[in-house]
Amino acid sequence: MNWLGLPARAEDKLAQVVTDALGRRRLRHAGVEVSTRARLMGLPIVSRCDDSRIMIGDDVVLCSHSRWTALGVAHPVVLRTLRAGALLAIGRGTGISGGSFCAAVSIRIGERCLLGADVLIADTDFHALDPACRETGWDDIACAPIDIGDDVFIGARAVILKGVRIGDGAVVGAGAVVTRSVPAHAVVAGNPAAIVRSRERGTP
Ligand SMILES: CC(C)(COP(=O)(O)OP(=O)(O)OC[C@H]1O[C@@H](n2cnc3c(N)ncnc32)[C@H](O)[C@@H]1OP(=O)(O)O)[C@@H](O)C(=O)NCCC(=O)NCCS
Repeated sequence: MNWLGLPARAEDKLAQVVTDALGRRRLRHAGVEVSTRARLMGLPIVSRCDDSRIMIGDDVVLCSHSRWTALGVAHPVVLRTLRAGALLAIGRGTGISGGSFCAAVSIRIGERCLLGADVLIADTDFHALDPACRETGWDDIACAPIDIGDDVFIGARAVILKGVRIGDGAVVGAGAVVTRSVPAHAVVAGNPAAIVRSRERGTP
């Protein structure tokens, strides 16, 4: 029993139903195209620029609260588009725990991917490298699309940087910093991430 006088499981279910409804409302209010079959566990943080798109597919699970994910999350899922024309798309059946997803041009995440706790994916450096150019807007800020294939597994706290493509079935180790593209079915780890081995389709 808890302070509401409910058994723990009933309280948990109630919290899930309430946060799913509130989270969905929050996403829709921000203009996110979210499937009725997506599941929100806890409230994500979202901001969408005008004339940009955030799309969340069928059976996507966004977990924004430590209560519902084994490792816990440092903060809720953060979904942002940063400028007009940007796209952030999360494919059917993908599961995400916490983490930040910031698109200035395009981030596409495929189907059935697993993104461990607190992954960070950003397709831009956010700031110009040259201090003299830091007040001039987007013109001097490097941006390049990120494309993540289907069935990709990204370990906790990995960082995926601009311009990276990750092939179908690839695995990214916990804490990896991925600066270069990853072939399909490769296992990469470390900083900068390097191939540790390759998986044949259907093997562990
Ligand atoms: C990447 C991973 C899947 C590799 O597992 P594996 O195939 O069993 O690989 P091994 O443990 O045999 O390691 C192979 C090599 O890669 C290195 N390695 C493995 N994971 C690493 C990581 N995250 N960072 C740096 N190096 C790593 C190992 O030290 C080893 O190096 P060596 O050959 O020089 O000894 C695993 O280590 C990992 O990071 N899993 C992610 C777990 C996670 O975050 N889950 C999400 C929960 S929400």
